[in-house]
Amino acid sequence: MDLNTLQSFNFFPVPTDIHFGFGILATLPERIRSLGGTRPLLITDPGVRAAGVLDQVTHVLESAGAEFAICDRVKPDSGSALIDQIVSEAKGAGADLIVGIGGGSSLDTAKAVAVLATNPGSALDYVGLQRVRNRPLPMIAIPTTSGTGSEVTLWSVFTDETRSVKVAIGSTFIYPAVAVCDPDLTLELPPPVTAATGMDALAHAVECYTNNACQPISAALALRAMELIGRNLRSAVLNGHSRQARYAMMLASTMAGIAMNPTRLGLAHALAMPLGSWDLRVPHGVILAVTLPHVMEFNYRAEPDRFVDVARALGESVDCLPRLEAASRAVSAVRQLAQDVGIPKGLGEFGVRPEHVRPVVDEAMKSGNVPVNPRRACADDLSRILQQAL
Ligand SMILES: [Fe+2]
Repeated sequence: MDLNTLQSFNFFPVPTDIHFGFGILATLPERIRSLGGTRPLLITDPGVRAAGVLDQVTHVLESAGAEFAICDRVKPDSGSALIDQIVSEAKGAGADLIVGIGGGSSLDTAKAVAVLATNPGSALDYVGLQRVRNRPLPMIAIPTTSGTGSEVTLWSVFTDETRSVKVAIGSTFIYPAVAVCDPDLTLELPPPVTAATGMDALAHAVECYTNNACQPISAALALRAMELIGRNLRSAVLNGHSRQARYAMMLASTMAGIAMNPTRLGLAHALAMPLGSWDLRVPHGVILAVTLPHVMEFNYRAEPDRFVDVARALGESVDCLPRLEAASRAVSAVRQLAQDVGIPKGLGEFGVRPEHVRPVVDEAMKSGNVPVNPRRACADDLSRILQQAL
């Protein structure tokens, strides 16, 4: 797409110090020392422990003679009450640094704990944008999936258990101080998790690139992320031990995370918050993987040039096609990718029923991701999209 020379924009670079590569976990003790940490608290979930990844981290710390404490009780879409409990534990243990290890739930919990350790009150007091007043404890993010990009974002998403809805703290204070991105930690991820989290990363890149708030620096990062995902997600799912594919997917996830900070996303992510709430609790990656092609089908005619770029980034040969047909290839490419990596056909398999459509859409319409969507969307449009995704 040609540059829009009339556009003014803001891009804020991520303050997170990113250390990336196979084996980079070995440098964790050095990273902790450089942040002045002497008593880190490791925050993770039972799945990361069971997969042996927590042992890899503790082995590195023990070999360096480092002291640390562990909390491994994070649940999927972890709640505000647990965050408050872990904050008390962190204070009791005299923790001076937080290390989050895991997928989005563990990293987002760790980010919120770092905030609450230096700010009074409960996690729910800081829901919204820029409400955090004091600098958090230094926090190191160690992603073990390639999808959320949480290691480089200004958001912490968790469940408000008083209303059973997903909420978020957004603050420029919340970026992890350091991200230790070691693709080694993803080599044993099971195919369904690799597929769903990889499609979440793709949704970040596509929604960021095609929305009305996108600007050239985010666009460059998002396009490259799409290319990497288009070329590597199938291998990462079908041959999890492919180091090339795991490296590429972790890189894509981190790049898409940086891209989306200043741009917000689109309708698929607007739907994701309520679909991950109440008694529904559909995993975030699955929601994105299932809804993304339907949202793209709705959007592509509004900004065909951007969707032509998406199609091209995903490896489609579109140069000889009429513009709209070329743009529609972005939709079919994503649909095919989802199918190839075994994404479930619809959200019905996860208990979402036609009677859920209206309440989900009512909540989704409040999202800041709706106004930036490339095509103007009303509640009826969102209902139709969700109906198609059931
Ligand atoms: Fe996401």
